[in-house]
Amino acid sequence: MSLTDCEREDAGASFLRDAAAVRDRLYPRRPFCSVLTFGCQQNEADSEKLRGMALEMGYQLTDSPEKADLILINTCAIREHAELKVLSIIGGYKHLREKNPELIIGVCGCMAAERHRAEQLKMRYPQVSFVLEPGELSMLASRVLTALSGKRSFLYTDPADFPHPTEGLPQKRIGGHRAWVSIMYGCNNFCTYCIVPYVRGREKSRPSEAVIAEVRELVCSGVKDITLLGQNVNSYRSDCDFADLLARLAEIPGDFLLRFMTSHPKDVSPALISVVGSCPKVAPHFHLPLQSGSDAVLKKMNRHYDTEGYLATVRALREAREGISITSDIIVGFPGETDADFEATLSLVREVGFDMIYSFIYSPRKGTPAAEYPGPVPSEVAHERMNRLLAAADESARLRALPYAGRICRVLVDSPSRDGRAGIMSGRTDTGKLVHFSTGNETVGRFASVKIERAEAFALYGTEMP
Ligand code: SAH
Ligand code: SF4
Ligand code: F3S
Repeated sequence: MSLTDCEREDAGASFLRDAAAVRDRLYPRRPFCSVLTFGCQQNEADSEKLRGMALEMGYQLTDSPEKADLILINTCAIREHAELKVLSIIGGYKHLREKNPELIIGVCGCMAAERHRAEQLKMRYPQVSFVLEPGELSMLASRVLTALSGKRSFLYTDPADFPHPTEGLPQKRIGGHRAWVSIMYGCNNFCTYCIVPYVRGREKSRPSEAVIAEVRELVCSGVKDITLLGQNVNSYRSDCDFADLLARLAEIPGDFLLRFMTSHPKDVSPALISVVGSCPKVAPHFHLPLQSGSDAVLKKMNRHYDTEGYLATVRALREAREGISITSDIIVGFPGETDADFEATLSLVREVGFDMIYSFIYSPRKGTPAAEYPGPVPSEVAHERMNRLLAAADESARLRALPYAGRICRVLVDSPSRDGRAGIMSGRTDTGKLVHFSTGNETVGRFASVKIERAEAFALYGTEMP
C-alpha cells in the first residue's frame, strides 16, 4: 500500500464508519442539509468536502437553510466584519430552531477554532449544536451523531495540533469546469495582523502523488481551470517543492490551465519563476500580496521582505512571462501607519502597475501581536486612505487593461452574461480578466477565441472569432 493509500485510509475510513452510523439513524428519511460558505477559497474547497460528507451521511443538499435539517456554516475570522455577519446570521436561525426542534446547526471553519468564539457560541447561542474546526473536517459525522442523540459538543482542539487528515474524504464539487485543489493546509508565517496561523494551525503539505492523482482525475473529467490552494501555497514541501510540483502537474496531458494561490513574496524562488515562465499550462497570472509599500510597516507586519525585493520579484516575473497579470492584497491603517508610509504604498502601487488589488482596512484580531501595537489609525483616516488607494487601484487596473483592446484572447466561457442579453457570454482570459463577448455559441466550459474591442478597468468587451 502506498503512502497515499495509507493517508486515504486514515481520514476516509474513520469518517465513513461514522457516516454509516448517521445513515442508519436517519433511515429511511433523507433530510436536507444546507452549507453556507464565508471567507476565502480554502473555505470554498472545504465546503465541497462538507457537502460530499453530508451526501455520504444520507442527507440531500438544499440551498435554502429554511428547508434544512442540518445547517453547516463555514465561517471566516479574518476581519471583525466577517465575524459579525456570521453571528448575526446564526442569531437569525433561532426562529428556525424554534420551528424545527430537530434542526442541527454546526459552526465550522475558522471562527470555530477561536477558543473565545467557541465559548461564546456555546453560552450565548443555544441553537448551535456543535463546532467543527477546519483541521478536523473528518470528525463531521461524529459531531452529527452526537447532535442526533440530543447533545451539544464544543470540544476544543488547539489548531497547532491539527493533523489535517483529509485524504479520502468525499467531495461534492460545484465549480463545473473550474476546480479548487487544496495542496497544503495551515500557515507558519505569523504576520502580526493575521489570525490564520492561530485558527488553521501549522503548515502541512499533501503528498505530491495525491495531488497529481486528483488533478489528473479532474482533467480527465473535463475540468479546464484548476486552482491549487494553500495559505502560503509556494511554501509547499513534501517529497518535492512547489516549483517541482507545478512542473509535474503541467506535464499532465490535456487542454487545461493551472492557477495557484496564495503565494508569499518571500517564497517566490527562481525555480518557481522559471516554471511560470516556461510552462504554457501555468496561467500567466500571479497573485502576490504586497500588504504595504512601506519597509517600516512591512517589518512591523513580520512579512520578511522589503519593497526592493518585492519589485525585483515582479520584474523577474514580467521578464519570464510576457503579459503576466499581477494582482495583490493591501492593508491600510495598520497600527502606526503614518501619512508617509501610506504615500509609499500609493507610490509602489503606481510603480508596479497591478492588474487588480484587493484592499482592506486593518481589523484588530484578538490574540495577534498587532492588536496590542500602539498608534491605532483613526477610522476616518483609514477610510480616507482606503478611498485614495481604491482610486489608485482603479487607475492601475485601467492602464493594465487598455492594451487588451484589439488583441485576440483565449477565454474560458463561464456563463451567459449577467444582464441576461441573448448572445452575450462571460468568461475569463488566461490572465484572469473578465470578458463579456457576443457569440452564437452559448456552450459554457469551453475555450473561445475572442477579439477584444473595448477595455475598461475591470471588464473587457469583444466578439468571438469564427
Ligand atoms: N495567506 C494569504 C491570504 C491571507 S487572508 C496571504 O498571505 O496573503 C487574505 C488577505 O486578508 C491578506 O492578504 C491580507 O491583506 C488581509 N488580512 C489579513 N488579516 C487582516 C486583518 N487583520 N485586517 C485586515 N486585513 C487582513
Ligand atoms: Fe496570514 Fe501571513 Fe499566513 Fe497569509 S502568510 S495566512 S497573511 S499569516
Ligand atoms: Fe477567513 Fe479562514 Fe480563509 S479566516 S480568509 S476563511 S483561512
